[in-house]
Amino acid sequence: MSKIINILKEKKSIPLDQFINIVLYDKKFGYYMKNNPFGKEGDFITSPLISNLFGEMLAVWCVSFWEYIGKPNKILLVELGPGDGTLCKNLLNTSKKFKDFYNSLEVNLLEISNKLKTIQKKKINNKKVKWIKKIQEINYGPVIFLGNEFFDALPIKQIYKKKKLFFEKYVALSNDNKKIRFLSKKADNNLIKRIQNLNLISNSNLIEYPLEAIKFLSSIAKKINKFDGGLLTFDYGYTVHKSQNTLQSVKKHRYTNILSMPHHSDISSHINFKLFHKVLKKSNLNVKKIINQNEFLKKIGILERANVLSKKMTFKEKANMYYRLKRLLDPKEMGSLFKVMFAQKKNKNFSLGF
Ligand SMILES: C[S@@+](CC[C@H](N)C(=O)[O-])C[C@H]1O[C@@H](n2cnc3c(N)ncnc32)[C@H](O)[C@@H]1O
Repeated sequence: MSKIINILKEKKSIPLDQFINIVLYDKKFGYYMKNNPFGKEGDFITSPLISNLFGEMLAVWCVSFWEYIGKPNKILLVELGPGDGTLCKNLLNTSKKFKDFYNSLEVNLLEISNKLKTIQKKKINNKKVKWIKKIQEINYGPVIFLGNEFFDALPIKQIYKKKKLFFEKYVALSNDNKKIRFLSKKADNNLIKRIQNLNLISNSNLIEYPLEAIKFLSSIAKKINKFDGGLLTFDYGYTVHKSQNTLQSVKKHRYTNILSMPHHSDISSHINFKLFHKVLKKSNLNVKKIINQNEFLKKIGILERANVLSKKMTFKEKANMYYRLKRLLDPKEMGSLFKVMFAQKKNKNFSLGF
């Protein structure tokens, strides 16, 4: 019997964010805790796995940032949610080409899943890399936080406004206990106050409240303020607010119903980048204008790099590289739905890629 069904039998109903947390991250039964969901054989694919050029270009970006802040003797790179470890592996490989940077570099990986941690350890195998469980463990810097599809994998709440009343989305069992269904409950006043404080209400009838992500942003901002550094993040998302349900579930590279395969399919949501921008600004950071992945990767020279590499490639290799690049850059694929956000200490203005 599935863990979530047992919990719902016992508790009758739970808020959407708790549901997402249990189905994805329950220690034993969570989707991310027992699966390797990435790649052709898995359920979905991410930019670092599509093309090694993604990690290679991010390494060059990190080297430039390190130079900008004065080439400190130690620079800590924290990858948020490193998945199967591909991005970290590629970052380290390219960094080796920049000897002084590589000598200064230490890496922390923030990963909740022991299953993925084992996969990462096998793939990366480098003494520079340590695993952490919480942002609070970080006690030196400067620190570069890097995340690809980390924030969109965190639980969110959904709140509806109906005739001036607020309702929170809950999850419960159907009357015959066989199916999982959504349910609305009157939202509590504290929750309404919190979304009001974030100006999330405006005219929209559906409000998505990424409470976990906001907690992460605040603790990351504290570390950047204390030790210097920045946060560079890539996620599915939007900058112009849409009053729409952005929750999605994926299984074997196809969209599926969020409630139909709990613990066995991925769940994610789109990031409200305007809100992220606001939260980080409130935390006293300098946040660059949010841009599309396409624009960022082109500005940091991914096409020029591909051109150099292509000179030593066979026709087949070249076709493969450009096919993969197209997936990262084409606005119809990941080029425009994916956004890039960079926040740094208030007195700094590093702008490569923006
Ligand atoms: C969608 S995957 C992205 C993986 C990888 N960055 C990539 O692009 O291939 C989300 C990652 O975040 C991790 N994760 C989710 N919530 C987390 C949390 N609260 N703390 C640490 N890691 C978390 C997941 O286990 C997974 O590694």
